[in-house]
Amino acid sequence: MSWTIGVLQDGDTAERRVPLTPDVAKKFQQLGASIVLQRGATAGAFLGEGDYADVKWVDSAAEVVAQSDCLLTVSPPPAEIVGQLKPGAVLLGLLQPYASAERIKQLQAGQITAFPMELLPRISRAQSMDILSSQAACSGYECVLIAATKCPKFFPMLTYAAGTIRPARVLIIGAGVAGLQAIATAKRLGAMVEAYDVRPETREQIESLGAKFVDTGVSAAGTGGYARELTDDEKRQQAEKLAKAIAQCDVLITTAAVPGKRAPRIVTADMVAGMKAGSIIVDMAAETGGNVEGCVAGAETQIGRVLLIGPTHLPSRMSVHASEMFSKNLFNFISPMLKEGTLTLDWEDEVLAGTCLTHAGEVRHAGVKQVLGL
Ligand code: NAI
Repeated sequence: MSWTIGVLQDGDTAERRVPLTPDVAKKFQQLGASIVLQRGATAGAFLGEGDYADVKWVDSAAEVVAQSDCLLTVSPPPAEIVGQLKPGAVLLGLLQPYASAERIKQLQAGQITAFPMELLPRISRAQSMDILSSQAACSGYECVLIAATKCPKFFPMLTYAAGTIRPARVLIIGAGVAGLQAIATAKRLGAMVEAYDVRPETREQIESLGAKFVDTGVSAAGTGGYARELTDDEKRQQAEKLAKAIAQCDVLITTAAVPGKRAPRIVTADMVAGMKAGSIIVDMAAETGGNVEGCVAGAETQIGRVLLIGPTHLPSRMSVHASEMFSKNLFNFISPMLKEGTLTLDWEDEVLAGTCLTHAGEVRHAGVKQVLGL
């Protein structure tokens, strides 16, 4: 029997991305894998049964799980599904590894080989597998489009018969992958863009996109290319400098994150109150606690004359391209280990070993173990 890859209908009803697109399914088949899909699982990306060749469609999640040696997933499957996976099965996708110790214990007890793509080492060789990056690019782009449609001003400068309209001023806080894509998108729409991040190397990246770097004097590079949490003194210094830039912008987009931690709270209620009437805030960190005080995930909150938006499921808004990128990233991760329908895990490979959360009844990721006290 060849190695079987399964895809279930996502447990999160607002999730529209699909972890296996037809092109990638075909590539897996060329490596000897079989594919089983739950009916309806691909509808969110406008894909139907006629789009996939030589795959098996079944009605229930239980049938998919019973036949799968590997489950590809966009969100972590519910406990009930994990409990039905075969011992030794591979679970691959976004699994929110820091969210629940219980879930990890279940994966461990079920002898599941779990690869949360959030744990992928951020090294050059792994860029083609980097789901966090591909999906962050979708989120950064979408945030700007949301802001542009809500903003009561043009983004570009506009010359018309009676004069000239000044371009909108957009401030982006957090210049990781999402923030840089947000900068590029706002620039393409013609806005005047300023951006800020605590990692010093972002100055050059921000400026190379034609935006202005807001210098707060706070530098907080952490390990692995990520930011670290700020001290209270640093937070005060940052707040003073940022308050001025925030008061001057028409659109504020926040994307700041620290891995495994709640999103840093950067914009206070006072700063929101100091913004211009009609300003728009899009808080991309809404789902992990928000960078802006008063942000409610999944809601638009009117605070005085400022509209604060806390969008969720951002990449799902562009589910076709987000799925294409997601699916290719998964293929690039797992396919080097798949030959003639057999999966052979190479634990000497730093990318594979670094991404593994559980294998053979063991929790293997030191960082997750430490954060969750396992
Ligand atoms: P992220 O999603 O973890 O965080 C977003 C941004 O928020 C980061 O730029 C971070 O510095 C910033 N931030 C955190 N606390 C902040 C605060 N208090 N104020 C302002 N900004 C704050 O980051 P992402 O996008 O996942 O990228 C993290 C790092 O990984 C970057 O250095 C990036 O260049 C690197 N990277 C490397 C890749 C590779 O070589 N394969 C691929 C993608 C990213």
